[in-house]
Amino acid sequence: MSSLEQTLSIIKPDAYERNLSEKIKAIFIKNNLSILKSKKLHISKDEAAEFYKVHQSKPFYDQLCNYLSSGPIEVLILEGDNAVSKNRELMGATDPKNAKDGTIRHLYGISIDKNSVHGSDSVENAKIEINFFFKIS
Ligand code: CMP
Repeated sequence: MSSLEQTLSIIKPDAYERNLSEKIKAIFIKNNLSILKSKKLHISKDEAAEFYKVHQSKPFYDQLCNYLSSGPIEVLILEGDNAVSKNRELMGATDPKNAKDGTIRHLYGISIDKNSVHGSDSVENAKIEINFFFKIS
């Protein structure tokens, strides 16, 4: 069954600094995810800590927050049929070493930290994450 959804995508510092934003956005558009809004920004470590607070008990949390705040990023609201799972399919596995051929992380990811993109993992979290960056409900 298809349902029209929105999800949040982040083009992370490693991809942004290699000028991969346009290539990544073209993958979304080619796969019927439209870009409703986009914004370039450079967040603080405190903002990254708030965004990733679900991971606060993980051993990699501090490193993760340092990384997301280390340089400019681009955040996107993607919309389309089953946008949450479609985006996750297009991104590929968290660790680029395990990402399937043709996925964004297989094409561009460098490591489990520098894995080029983030995508919401559920419709509920997508709403929270979109609201975090765009302050809309
Ligand atoms: P992301 O989808 O942005 O969500 C959390 C991030 O934590 C994940 O991508 C990875 O970049 C990062 N991360 C770092 N180490 C790990 C790990 N061991 N397991 C899962 N995620 C990790």
